[in-house]
Amino acid sequence: MNFNEFESKSAQEILQWVIGEYGQRAGLASSFGMEDMVLIDILAKLDGEITLFTLDTGRLHEETYEVMERARSKYGITIQTYFPDKGDAECLLRDKGFFSFRESVDNRKECCAIRKIEPLNRALAGLDAWVTGLRREQNVTRTDVQKVAEDSDRPSMVKINPLADWSLDKMEEYIKTNNVPINALHKKNFPSIGCAPCTRSVEPGQDLRSGRWWWENPEHKECGLHRRPE
Ligand code: ADX
Ligand code: SF4
Repeated sequence: MNFNEFESKSAQEILQWVIGEYGQRAGLASSFGMEDMVLIDILAKLDGEITLFTLDTGRLHEETYEVMERARSKYGITIQTYFPDKGDAECLLRDKGFFSFRESVDNRKECCAIRKIEPLNRALAGLDAWVTGLRREQNVTRTDVQKVAEDSDRPSMVKINPLADWSLDKMEEYIKTNNVPINALHKKNFPSIGCAPCTRSVEPGQDLRSGRWWWENPEHKECGLHRRPE
């Protein structure tokens, strides 16, 4: 299939195609940040459903659980929740303590591998496609994100990023017009929200992801969920 034709399609058109092509064999990966809430709202207005899953790293903000619950009750969605492997998480904490991710990029990647990547791989097993809220303007590592492409990490899988070309202004306009619930932290200058100890607020004008792993260089700021094709 030639995926380039999707570049001119709207998020609504792409998601309607995903429903028809994959149905429940497609999964929306949701951290319940504003992008994912926009995707949930668009999906709720279309005919049909896809799977929805979240990776609960065990280190999320209370506000994230609150917006998950609001989404559950407003949209009547079922959220498949994946936790880190118990043994791996217990060993990490026993051997390296509770803030090992601050000590080096390698340690940070180890924590993300245990708390995000291994659960993601379990979530994707049995699916043929996954949908994310990636946008090109989020970071230097994301400028070439395509709307629909083969997943470079998983060649049998299709990765769909319907909001790839959306700006922050467009997101905010959609959220306002459609009364979409959002994580309360967004109103406290958290444009990008991940785990609590690895996320902080940003100053006006700073990069959208500068509050994520703020002690690292922007080129390193991917946890491994989304790698750039070589
Ligand atoms: S991350 O890789 O740095 O954590 P980011 O927070 O920008 O990613 O989110 C980008 C997209 O990755 C989200 O829109 C969502 O599709 C997916 N994602 C990120 N974190 C999670 C999570 N905890 N559970 C499920 N999907 C997630
Ligand atoms: Fe661990 Fe931080 Fe990665 Fe969360 S974002 S998995 S706490 S290193």
